[in-house]
Amino acid sequence: MAGEELPVAFDFATWTRLIPESEIRRLLRVKVRYYFAGGKPGVLPTGVFPRLLVELGLEEMDLLLRGEQRQIIEHFNYGPSEGLPELRELLARKMLRARDGLEIDPEEGWRDVIITTGSQQALYAILDSLIDPGDVIITQRPAYLGFVNVAAKFQAKIVTVPADADGVVPEYVEAAIRLAERELGSKPKLIYLVPDSDNPTGTTMPESRRKEFFDLAASIGTFILEDAAYREIQFRGEPHRPIKYYDKNNEYVIYQRSTSKEVAVFRVGYSYMPPKLKEQVVKAKGYMDLCTPTLMQKLALMYYEKYFDEHILRVREGYRERCEAMEESIDESFPPGHRTTPTGGFFIWWSADERDFDSDWFLNEVALKNDVSYVPGSAFYPPFGYSYEPETNSLEPLRPRKHGMRLGYSYLTPEEIRQGITRLGRLLASHLSG
Ligand SMILES: Cc1ncc(COP(=O)(O)O)c(C=O)c1O
Repeated sequence: MAGEELPVAFDFATWTRLIPESEIRRLLRVKVRYYFAGGKPGVLPTGVFPRLLVELGLEEMDLLLRGEQRQIIEHFNYGPSEGLPELRELLARKMLRARDGLEIDPEEGWRDVIITTGSQQALYAILDSLIDPGDVIITQRPAYLGFVNVAAKFQAKIVTVPADADGVVPEYVEAAIRLAERELGSKPKLIYLVPDSDNPTGTTMPESRRKEFFDLAASIGTFILEDAAYREIQFRGEPHRPIKYYDKNNEYVIYQRSTSKEVAVFRVGYSYMPPKLKEQVVKAKGYMDLCTPTLMQKLALMYYEKYFDEHILRVREGYRERCEAMEESIDESFPPGHRTTPTGGFFIWWSADERDFDSDWFLNEVALKNDVSYVPGSAFYPPFGYSYEPETNSLEPLRPRKHGMRLGYSYLTPEEIRQGITRLGRLLASHLSG
């Protein structure tokens, strides 16, 4: 519509001018041979999907033959906004209690678990429920763009904090909180963290840091949003305890998980959070979509009941191979720079030693024209906000750094990754040496 006359005279809402389209959505429309842009799963239990559909079909057929019209109507109908009780109960028992070691009440705990249409919707509904314009949020820089842009849409004051190879640095967060209280007039309402294989940097937070963050949130009385989208895709070493583990009374940590990365993009996310917040989040979700599609929840239920344990090992192994292929090819072909070493997840973060390197420009002018995509580092900064600067211990206006890029290894095969990364490496090397 840009530049065209609209048939009626109105302005779009202010946020539409302030918040850009997601770089990942934009890049999905660009067809390239070597796609390292989005976090699209490329290792899925494909053999199970036809079986799930047949089983579901047979179940429905059986109901039909037995004249159980009412049950069929329910399966193809609206469900509760917070999700199907049987799915919430299964995920609470099997994933949160048994796998994550959370001391969630075996009888009643599932009531604090809600199903959302992808964990992205949980993220949106949580911010919608918590954030008034001007409220302070703390996150790392760079950070998941699906979080920072939504936070900016709600007009939060976003304070970004540097991370190291172990993720966000707790001392910097503490210092940033003190400065936010003094200079922005309030303590943060929320600290957003992705402790297991962060998006975009691929780092994993050690146990000690997780505990430190919990203690910090509890001591100042703020929420942590623990986004555990890559919790099951941990292929090097044992996973650490979630931050939520320390939140024995379910007070401070919102634990957000997704099925998308490990099963299929069913659009089924699940979050475990303090009951009072849950009520508001369900209300917000209800106004977005009334409920998550009932059939997709049924498929997720069948998958986690019967197939998850067998298939997750193969899925994880597939991502490990892809990650290794990307690491080796970066090391062989890229110019001087630094890359992260993921223990899981979908992404490696690479930054050029040459600080003037502009990965936005390079993407559009060089990489895409040579059939390669990635997400430039600047996409992982909110459009406005603050930087906590450790050297000066001050809050500065946010300025995106452009010399980094996120490289996703999830979608292509190891061989395609080798070819594509070698091509990208050659292009970078000739650009950066010239
Ligand atoms: C860190 C993180 N959180 C949340 C999401 C949203 O995932 P979904 O809505 O598929 O559950 C993603 C997707 O890429 C992600 O990387």
